[in-house]
Amino acid sequence: MARRSDVRPRGRPSIPVAATSGRRASTPVIGRVAKGEDPFFRRLVSSMRNGVIAIRRNGSLALINDEAYRIFALPPQAADLGRPFGDVLRERPDLTRVLSGAFDLTTLPNRAELRLRDLDRVIGYTLSQVRDEQGRVIGAVMFFKDLTQVEQREERERLRDRLASLGEMAAGIAHELKNPLAGIEVMAGLLRRQVPDSPDAQSMLADIISEAKLANAIVGEMLDFVRPIRLQVERTDLVEVLNQAVTLAESQAMRGDVLVELDLGKDLPSIDGDQYQLCQVFTNLLINGFEALDGRGRITIKAAAVELEHDPAFATDSRQPTPAIVVDVTDDGPGVPAQLRDRIFDPFFTTKPKGSGLGLPIVRKIVDAHDGRIDLAVAPGGGARFRVTLPVSSGGAWFK
Ligand SMILES: Nc1ncnc2c1ncn2[C@@H]1O[C@H](COP(=O)(O)OP(=O)(O)OP(=O)(O)O)[C@@H](O)[C@H]1O
Ligand SMILES: [Mg+2]
Repeated sequence: MARRSDVRPRGRPSIPVAATSGRRASTPVIGRVAKGEDPFFRRLVSSMRNGVIAIRRNGSLALINDEAYRIFALPPQAADLGRPFGDVLRERPDLTRVLSGAFDLTTLPNRAELRLRDLDRVIGYTLSQVRDEQGRVIGAVMFFKDLTQVEQREERERLRDRLASLGEMAAGIAHELKNPLAGIEVMAGLLRRQVPDSPDAQSMLADIISEAKLANAIVGEMLDFVRPIRLQVERTDLVEVLNQAVTLAESQAMRGDVLVELDLGKDLPSIDGDQYQLCQVFTNLLINGFEALDGRGRITIKAAAVELEHDPAFATDSRQPTPAIVVDVTDDGPGVPAQLRDRIFDPFFTTKPKGSGLGLPIVRKIVDAHDGRIDLAVAPGGGARFRVTLPVSSGGAWFK
């Protein structure tokens, strides 16, 4: 591991690349550049869709472009150039650790990945040493790309593939089960009429009929789930949707003394969405909340308008942030145990004796169809917080 002292600046910092104009002959990173071409190369670096950070041997920051600032969530400042990179990037210790190692490593990583835990981001990077004519190392440069959205896309594709094969199988099974189940229900009904005087037989047959009905309902849900989703998109007021969802959830699950608090930001914009399906999203989340709280506790629903910054690698026409609405459904129940967090969106995963495990997969499917996303987090008190992010207008550049 690199020692920080290896890269501490010695003496006065050298003149930063981007802060000079015409004194570039000694700059290591884009060294042999004709004077007249400086602005072109400066534009080139700043227009790159990759992040670039270069440091000199004395540990001063030689170059950093806008994309690097964006990825590392740092405010761009011209005065950063020439300062010790450890100071400029102080808030990103994972990054300074990698850069510090650039002068010590004999084999530098090509296509390595770095997870920035504090930002919940993943970057893919290449690290190179910069050498002068004599082959002496005079600096290091890191090229990188934000892989967060790539990872999210891959995860969505994996999920889609899994659901597609699971869906085919489930559709086949459901289809085969439908007829025998209907047969059981009809036959049990006929039998009931033949034993009118036997209360025991009557009650057993009633049980058979209600269990067959339940199985039929599950089969129906399964078929609903595997069918491709079709949205009826219209301008949808989320405030209305959330209020409806509270009423629906109360009618489908035991609310008991659970307090439901709505904190809906002022002037929430309407979104392009399917009102009915979005209502199902929040109803399912609320039902899960009621079930987790078991009649006692608090659920808060907080909605706010946000601007999502997006990865330029995915931008096609504009660099504008995407307007979106974030809805947090938070409960103060027991939360989802860490070892189950990866599984709760899997179809048929349930910890409830009577659950079908389709609530959250349906939620995810609907949110996905809206180009949105859903994330689970641990609420401050240890309960569950489901965050649904929905773009205001569908068909935007987000995740497309
Ligand atoms: N708010 C929550 N608090 C704690 N655990 C939760 C919460 N929401 C979901 N879970 C966990 O996730 C699992 C899957 O939820 P999901 O809604 O998909 O299915 P279910 O509620 O078990 O059954 P169904 O919704 O089909 O009736 C639940 O069984 C539960 O273990
Ligand atoms: Mg559920």
